[in-house]
Amino acid sequence: MFNRTQKEYTVVSSAKPQHTYPLDAWSIRETSFDTQSHFLDETLFALGNGYIGLRGSYEDGYSGPANTTLDGSYLNGFYESETIHYPETAYGLAKTNQFMLNVPNGKGISLWIDDERFDLLHGTVEQYERSLDFRTGVLLRKVLWTSSKGQRISIVSRRVVCFEHKHLYAIEYTVTPLNFSGKLRLVASLDGAVKNIEAGDDPRIGSAVSGPALQLVDSQQEDDFSALLHHTSNSGFALVSATASKLDYSGTHTLRLLKNGQRLEQSYEVQATEGLAIRLTKFGSYFSSRDYPAKELMYRSRDTLAQAQATGFAELLLEQEQYLANFWQQADVEIAGDDALQQGIHFNQFHLLQSVGRDGKTNISAKGVTGEGYEGHYFWDTEIYIFPFFLYSKPEIAKKLLEYRYAGLEQARQRARQMSHERGALYPWRTIAGEECSAYFPAGTAQYHINADIAYSIKLYFEATGDQDYLVNFGAEILMETARIWLGIGSYDREGRFCINQVTGPDEYTALVNNNYYTNAMARLHLNFAADVAERIAAKQPEQFSRIAALMALDNAEPAAWRRAAQLMNLPYDAALQIHAQDDSFLSKKVWDFANTPKEKYPLLLNYHPMVIYRHQVCKQADVVLALLLLSDEFSKEDKKRDFDYYEPLTTHDSSLSSCIYSIIASEIGYHEQAYDFFMETARLDLDNTHGNTHYGVHTAAMAGTWMGVAYGFAGMRVVKGALRFAPTLPTQWQHYTFKIHFQGALLEVRVEPGRTEYRLLQGETLRLSHRGEEITLTLSAPVKSLA
Ligand code: BGC
Repeated sequence: MFNRTQKEYTVVSSAKPQHTYPLDAWSIRETSFDTQSHFLDETLFALGNGYIGLRGSYEDGYSGPANTTLDGSYLNGFYESETIHYPETAYGLAKTNQFMLNVPNGKGISLWIDDERFDLLHGTVEQYERSLDFRTGVLLRKVLWTSSKGQRISIVSRRVVCFEHKHLYAIEYTVTPLNFSGKLRLVASLDGAVKNIEAGDDPRIGSAVSGPALQLVDSQQEDDFSALLHHTSNSGFALVSATASKLDYSGTHTLRLLKNGQRLEQSYEVQATEGLAIRLTKFGSYFSSRDYPAKELMYRSRDTLAQAQATGFAELLLEQEQYLANFWQQADVEIAGDDALQQGIHFNQFHLLQSVGRDGKTNISAKGVTGEGYEGHYFWDTEIYIFPFFLYSKPEIAKKLLEYRYAGLEQARQRARQMSHERGALYPWRTIAGEECSAYFPAGTAQYHINADIAYSIKLYFEATGDQDYLVNFGAEILMETARIWLGIGSYDREGRFCINQVTGPDEYTALVNNNYYTNAMARLHLNFAADVAERIAAKQPEQFSRIAALMALDNAEPAAWRRAAQLMNLPYDAALQIHAQDDSFLSKKVWDFANTPKEKYPLLLNYHPMVIYRHQVCKQADVVLALLLLSDEFSKEDKKRDFDYYEPLTTHDSSLSSCIYSIIASEIGYHEQAYDFFMETARLDLDNTHGNTHYGVHTAAMAGTWMGVAYGFAGMRVVKGALRFAPTLPTQWQHYTFKIHFQGALLEVRVEPGRTEYRLLQGETLRLSHRGEEITLTLSAPVKSLA
């Protein structure tokens, strides 16, 4: 049995559980079945390809308590919308929520022996193993089971969600009777009677919708093909969910097609022979009118499934493995000396790849496509936490994330008008299709820093890739439109300082404040960068500049006004404490009474009214300390140390976005033990369910925070004014670590060992970087440098 705790499905506090499943670097594997961990394991064993997400639920069903399972299937960016009902409304509040839908379940394959249904909770499970392999991308389950009448049977199922085919997944289900011959029934189903979970009291869970959101319009069923056509009630989308199943068996069998409400079944009656394997292969697809005209969905489904059948399951597995080999070749982070950690890191990287939208129309949600937590919404998590991982590991995916933001520029302009800004664009705090969906504005719309976060990621992208075309065609417009908002909300005070009032910074335990340090400092960077880009394009590509300026009716005087606001930006600093103040009022508030807050009162957000929290010096997550990382060269080491020392004791880390940032700054200021502890907290956050809510989905920002913890934290990587720097340290617990970075067309491998660091140019002609302040150049003829 698993010995992990924290399996309750209500949110529980964050004591660290034990894990007893094997610590393999490239897989997670469980060898026994446990209803207590079932809900959580459905998340951990989830598969996805950036579009389709299938929770790790069994093909053959689960008869355990309803609150220990969520058999979900999701499509990144496919959503229903619903009016947000405010008992007491106000002008400009977000009007409509969008939420990721649980779509028809095509995974089902039930097995009957005579009239007894195979079920892990009944009969006798003699052997059980389920694994998810990060190199093959296959979810494998092997079971040896004996029915109540003593019939022994082996069941092996393999599942993939194809990285190479956005709309396709495949399952192979093999049954072998071990001590009997007789009647068997295999039923492949496609079930449209699905619904989303209900939110309850936890704001981090799903949407508040209780009924089914999909309306059945048509169904088709013939031979091995089944399809359901649904419409969403409000968002106006059509969706075709389809499956094609085929039985591979040399003995006698018959096929019956059944329909039961929204459930289509292909029922194979088999005359089974002892020792002879029966194999059912099932291909499944989803096509929606978010991607194609509604009239094409059905034929595209048929076509995709027919092609998959012609290709075959084995070939799809090969493609999957090749795709992953290419990914790992660029992205692998290797840590020697800590198996639990290595497993955690690979698991995180694998789930990030599974979660990220790669079509420019979708992004990466806070929980990926593994669960309904945060309703499939995209946040700043993308730009500040997840983007760096893709930028330096798979830059083409990072570019797609930026394309997504460009696609949402028009809605951001409209939102700015709703918020009374005459010009400019304000990106939504949380969204799927671009409209603001945050119903609680103090910790939502008020987080104007989202604009600067997006600008920051464009800057990072440009510095790492030098992609001038992107900047001219898309980036510049976003940068300038979003920069305008700072002038819209900011104003000069009597001392001539540019102030940004009534906003919320990253720390959601403090809201609606004046001059949040992070926001102002990031806005300053944003304004300067927007002005730089405007000047550069105006000088080098005047025609392009005229085009952009015309598009956004840019006044000639605007870039200078941006510069002035940046120069005079109010950045709160407390001279007595010698620290950066989180905002104008933070330091004068009462410090939270941590000593008298029992463990079960965390996370605070579930136990105290927001205003009680807002009145205190208490942080949910890194705020000033995040600025120390993102704007690294604006602070001295002493500054960083003082800020860290002040804010860390005030931070609950109730947000999973916090520990990784603290780990990085701890590394930089030489707090090595703390750096390691914070890092460990992030690296296995989902595997060990330390936040107690992984059953609702993985935490993608924290997963990427692990990557940052290695590259930015231990290896001290920074890009300052376009130049790549490292200052590596090696945690005493490790023998060495290695990771790779795409930078300016080159691929660099960094290997940190006791006493030395090796830099190796794997691709590209030349790369300049600095190691603890020493400039080095790697070239084709001298691709390796090893330094102390
Ligand atoms: C954090 C936000 C984050 C959101 C989604 C919240 O708990 O406070 O910063 O964007 O989760 O991950």
